[in-house]
Amino acid sequence: MVLHGPNLNLLGAREPGIYGRATLADIDRALAERARARGASVECRQTNLEGELVGFIHEAGQRAQAIIINPAAYTHTSVAIADALRAVGLPAVEVHLSNVHAREPFRRRSFVAPVCVGTIGGFGARSYTLALEAVLDILEDKQNS
Ligand code: DQA
Repeated sequence: MVLHGPNLNLLGAREPGIYGRATLADIDRALAERARARGASVECRQTNLEGELVGFIHEAGQRAQAIIINPAAYTHTSVAIADALRAVGLPAVEVHLSNVHAREPFRRRSFVAPVCVGTIGGFGARSYTLALEAVLDILEDKQNS
């Protein structure tokens, strides 16, 4: 399951110098295509609400094998999202379009990083497809072990 946090519905128009010109629909389409090419599928969801993101993580725990999540601003504030990821225990990868370490100091802190397998950021829309490759590799490794 691919989860997009607040303001990511505005991608394409939102600060394109930082986040690029790709829309969320473009990103979701690229993920679906790449997943299909590797014999997998993705379900992509976006919300501007923290509690709804927690609910989506719980749902992922019921029916997904892994989570790709860009919690957006909640990355830097949300104990609830980190706790939800910890609770469901699925392999999760944190994604950011921008390089959060090259921006304001408050963006360097991530509550979700410690509960994720890893973080991919700074590659624009490609951060998501890189995360997908990583997640599918992890799941394949698991299957083969
Ligand atoms: C972001 C980085 C966050 O700091 C910011 O609040 C976002 C987007 C990114 O993808 O680069 O909304 O998660």
